[in-house]
Amino acid sequence: MTASHVAPGDIATIARARRLRGRVSLPGDKSISHRALMLALLANGTSAIQGASGGADVRSTAGILRALGASVDEVVGEDGRVSYRVVSPGPEGLRQPIAPLDCGNSGTSLRLFAGILAGLPMTAVLDGDASLRARPVARIIEPLRSMGAAIQGRDQDSLPPVTVTGRPPLRAVDWSTPVPSAQVKSAILLAGLRADGTTRVRESVATRDHTERMLRARGVPVRSGVEHDGGATIEIEGGVAVQTMDERVPADPSAASFWLVAAAIHPSAEIRLLSVGVNPTRRSAIDLLRAMGAEIGETEASIAGATAHATGDGEPSADLVARSSDLRGIDIGAADTARAIDEIPVLCLAATQADGRTTIRAAGELRAKESDRLAGIVGGLSALGATIAIDGDDIVIDGPTRLRGADVDARDDHRLAMTFAIAGLVATGQTTIHGAASAAISDPRFFDELERIRS
Ligand code: S3P
Repeated sequence: MTASHVAPGDIATIARARRLRGRVSLPGDKSISHRALMLALLANGTSAIQGASGGADVRSTAGILRALGASVDEVVGEDGRVSYRVVSPGPEGLRQPIAPLDCGNSGTSLRLFAGILAGLPMTAVLDGDASLRARPVARIIEPLRSMGAAIQGRDQDSLPPVTVTGRPPLRAVDWSTPVPSAQVKSAILLAGLRADGTTRVRESVATRDHTERMLRARGVPVRSGVEHDGGATIEIEGGVAVQTMDERVPADPSAASFWLVAAAIHPSAEIRLLSVGVNPTRRSAIDLLRAMGAEIGETEASIAGATAHATGDGEPSADLVARSSDLRGIDIGAADTARAIDEIPVLCLAATQADGRTTIRAAGELRAKESDRLAGIVGGLSALGATIAIDGDDIVIDGPTRLRGADVDARDDHRLAMTFAIAGLVATGQTTIHGAASAAISDPRFFDELERIRS
């Protein structure tokens, strides 16, 4: 009998591991993969993308490119990563889709395509699964409407599906985002491509900056200024064509964080991860884990061509090695929480094994992710024996606690499923995860890799 098992019925059973050793192969960065496909759609000609994520979210984006009239060929590598070749007629040659555009579970697809469609002369509907239909969209509808697009959402413009009628040229805006969000910033910048003049976005915390880097690399002037308080202002010039480019996608730092935590909390572990994206706006989980005492070695990426030089998009990457560590609790402030928003569930798991109290401040935005992640993480980790509570928008965890295998509900949320699976590697007995197949949203090979490196 294998120690871990994902049954066809969406349930994974994980037993405690004796040892974790080896190199884990990771998916391509999800955020960069989405953007590489979208920018290939906006460029007239042929773009190649290597090492993209094979997860369901990025496949949703590829499907939307096809529905809008681009030709998209894909080859899946042995490591599960995807090479795409996109041929697009460019923004003037795209066609109005005949059916709603299916974003599946992907908030990034829905919000960024809303910005793209705002600048295209057509009407399209963006829709997705039950989880996506429960996620807020007023945050994109308001700025895109003020730029001149006709855009509506369900339930008084609060929820998907979203119908967009593009009205190019759009009006440039100066927009301050109420909640730090790379998706909202990116939607406005992508609409700004098709606006008259300079579009400006101000954010209180500098969120992931892939859209800015990737637009610059494709010939579009984008200026960013980071303020002393950690906020940022980003400006884009409208009316400049996006150039085609060949992209190589680094491994996903958010997918890496599960393995960094696995190694840190397991008593006999050494896990290596190659060519992981370490963009300063994405590496917070590495730095927070180190602040907790995690032993994580970091050297420049060793795979030939894996660094940003190969493509000129300025995305740094590194090889990481993580080992068993003695962790201590820390206080994570609002800005770090915003920057590590996707890694907070697995950092909560790390905190259950850390000595002392960990407080994660201003984590309320987790309620608006693929599931209510605050409720999901507290429910799952409490069932496993952790001492974890919500205080307003803060998460408070006291450790270390001994985790005991139990039945936990991942709520069909990939980041919860993977967090609970890693917990199962250190918990006594067996951990049974309901909704485990959701891991394939961002990392289809997660459970195979887990099986391969454990004993
Ligand atoms: C993403 C931005 C974040 C993140 C999501 C990916 C992106 O969402 O949680 O997984 O690629 O821009 P928000 O912008 O809603 O914080």
